Amino acid sequence: MSNGFSTVELAERKAIVTGGASGIGKATAIAMAGAGADVVVTDIDEDGGAQVAADIGGSFAMLDVSDPSAWDRVVSTAGPFDIAFLNAGISTNQGLPRTEGDPISALTDDAYRRIMSINLDGVVYGARAVLPGMTERGSGDIIATASMAGLFPISLDPVYGLTKHGVVGFVRSLGNYFESTDGAPDICVSALCPAFTDTNIIGEELRAVLDTFEVEIMPVDHVAGVVMRMLAERKPGSQWAVEPGHEPYVFEWPATKTLGQDQE
Ligand SMILES: NC(=O)c1ccc[n+]([C@@H]2O[C@H](COP(=O)([O-])OP(=O)(O)OC[C@H]3O[C@@H](n4cnc5c(N)ncnc54)[C@H](O)[C@@H]3O)[C@@H](O)[C@H]2O)c1
Repeated sequence: MSNGFSTVELAERKAIVTGGASGIGKATAIAMAGAGADVVVTDIDEDGGAQVAADIGGSFAMLDVSDPSAWDRVVSTAGPFDIAFLNAGISTNQGLPRTEGDPISALTDDAYRRIMSINLDGVVYGARAVLPGMTERGSGDIIATASMAGLFPISLDPVYGLTKHGVVGFVRSLGNYFESTDGAPDICVSALCPAFTDTNIIGEELRAVLDTFEVEIMPVDHVAGVVMRMLAERKPGSQWAVEPGHEPYVFEWPATKTLGQDQE
C-alpha cells in the first residue's frame, strides 16, 4: 500500500497503535502499514478498530489503555513490539454534559479520574508493558501523543493541559534515560505534539469557536506524516510540535543535562 508520505522503511517491524480506530491513530496505522509494518491496531472501539485493521492487513486487539491487565494480555499475545504509538486520549468532558463557569469548579471526580487514567496511566502502562520486549531485542521506538497543550497553556481545558504536560515530562525523562545511560538499549522515546487536528476529539462546540477565530484545523494525514518522520529521524526525548502547513518544530534538550547525573 502506498500512502505518499512514507519516509521510513518499516518492513519486518511490528507496531502497536493505541486509539487506532479513529483520527490520528487510524491515519498513523495506515501510514505505518503503508511503510511495511505489521500493525496491531488497538482501541476500545471494537468495530472501528477491527475495520481499520482489516483495511490495512493488520490485526486488531481490544485494549483499554487504562487497564494494566489488558496491556499484559495484549503484549503477551500479540507482542513483542518494535514500535509503540501510545496515542489514545480524550479531553476532560468528552462525552459528558457541559459544565458552566470556569473549567475546574464543576469538575467531577469521575471526569478527572477518567482523563488521568487514559491520558497519563495509558502512556505509563503502555511504556511499562512494551519496554521489556524492546530491551530484550536491544532496540525500539516509543512515540506518545501529547499535544501543543503539553507545551503551551490551554485555558479551556486545564486538566487536559495537565495530562499532556505530564506526557511531555515523562517522554523527556524516559527518553533521556535511554539516551544518556551507558549500556542502555537503543530505545527512542519521543512525543508528538499536534495543534488542532480534524478528529472526533474536536466537538461541535470547539469546532465553532475555532471557526469563529479562523483557527486552521489540520488534516490527520499531515500529523501521521510527522510520526513517520519521527521514526525516521529518531530524536530521543524530543517533542515534535505540529502545525498546519509548516515543517514540524522539534524541541530537544541536551542529553548531558539531566537531574541526578553528572553534568558537563
Ligand atoms: N485532534 C486534536 O486536535 C488533537 C491535538 C493534539 C493532540 N491530540 C491527541 O491525539 C490523540 C488521538 O486523538 P484524536 O484527536 O485522534 O481523537 P479521536 O477521538 O479521533 O481518537 C481517539 C481514539 O482513542 C480511543 N480511546 C478512547 N479511550 C480509550 C481507552 N481508554 N483505551 C483505548 N482507546 C481509547 C477512541 O475510541 C478513539 O478511537 C489523543 O491523545 C489526543 O489527546 C489531538
